[in-house]
Amino acid sequence: MPLYQTATWRFDTTRQFADVISGQAEGYVYGRGYGNPTVGAFEKVMASLEGTEAAFAFASGSAAIHAVVTMLASAGQRIVASRNLYGGTVSLFQRHLPRMGVQVQFVDVEDSEAVVQALDGAALFYVETISNPHVAVADLPRLAAACAEAGVPGVIDNTFASPYLCNPSQLGFDYVVHSATKYLGGHSDLLGGVVCCTDEGRTRLRSHSLDLGGAMQPFEAWLCLRGLATLELRMERHSATASNLAAFLVASPSVGAVHYPGLDGGRFSVRAKSLLRLPGGMLAFEHVGGYEASAAVCDSLRVAWIGASLGGAHTLVAHPASTTHRQLDAASRQAAGISDGLIRVSVGLEDSADLMADFSGALSAAGASG
Ligand SMILES: Cc1ncc(COP(=O)(O)O)c(C=O)c1O
Repeated sequence: MPLYQTATWRFDTTRQFADVISGQAEGYVYGRGYGNPTVGAFEKVMASLEGTEAAFAFASGSAAIHAVVTMLASAGQRIVASRNLYGGTVSLFQRHLPRMGVQVQFVDVEDSEAVVQALDGAALFYVETISNPHVAVADLPRLAAACAEAGVPGVIDNTFASPYLCNPSQLGFDYVVHSATKYLGGHSDLLGGVVCCTDEGRTRLRSHSLDLGGAMQPFEAWLCLRGLATLELRMERHSATASNLAAFLVASPSVGAVHYPGLDGGRFSVRAKSLLRLPGGMLAFEHVGGYEASAAVCDSLRVAWIGASLGGAHTLVAHPASTTHRQLDAASRQAAGISDGLIRVSVGLEDSADLMADFSGALSAAGASG
């Protein structure tokens, strides 16, 4: 797909410009969400991968989440959200929505009764397919059915799964959100987001976003298309290496709980098997030595790097309590199970044995330093 690197389009006549901008004629106008062939190609591929009628692309995952939530919820309304979410999303919900008159009710999505009760009269329901950072897999068909029963739009962040692992629209969710920055781009070299939904949903989102800004730009769409061409290969490799690393960590004496959807006998393994094509590249584990020991492990790694983001070719580790989830107060962190010893790993595409040796060395070094 060629890169149409332009912000604006010229017209032969004033009348033509008026007809196109008002939607009475086909054409391109301006780069703030009015349409661009490269961005449009990315949207079409995403709709096809997610099995939705349409998609609308954004400048980041956070821009996508902000747009869909503020489109669906107005002042005086209440939204219902899982309490296990990416820290930036929690921050949007806790710090900004209430200022705009939208109340947020966080729920334990494993508590069916609480979810059903909360959904009554809500403007939307929000959950992640595989939660950040605990990689919990919710009972998505049950949650989608509860939303349908209550007449509440279901919004799901499918970033950790990617469309290769799961298509939540097929389970009944109405708006499927991605941070394209992660697995869709796949190379940690772009920021982007996308919402996959019905044609009608896209029309509403686009109209909302023309005023909000935050549309995806052509170069990012072009990079995303480059990334999507290898999505299947990358997800297969991420999953295979993450499965090896999870099994290795389970056997390590200084490691407490290991969170990975693909671990046999794990809390979500049966559900993950039925809902996900593969367990994916994200895992998290607790070091029994708390903050000091987990920081020492991260600092000792050489193949894996310490850094923000996930879903790229390079393995990245993060200490959620002090970084990606620092926005949560201590009580919310505790409710979400984010302990001081928790380390999140985005498993990259490196040689599996190299990575295992790296973690083995880092755990020994941290043990020795502790
Ligand atoms: C699950 C999830 N959703 C959304 C986002 C936000 O995406 P972006 O950084 O592209 O705004 C992140 C960022 O880490 C994330 O992990």
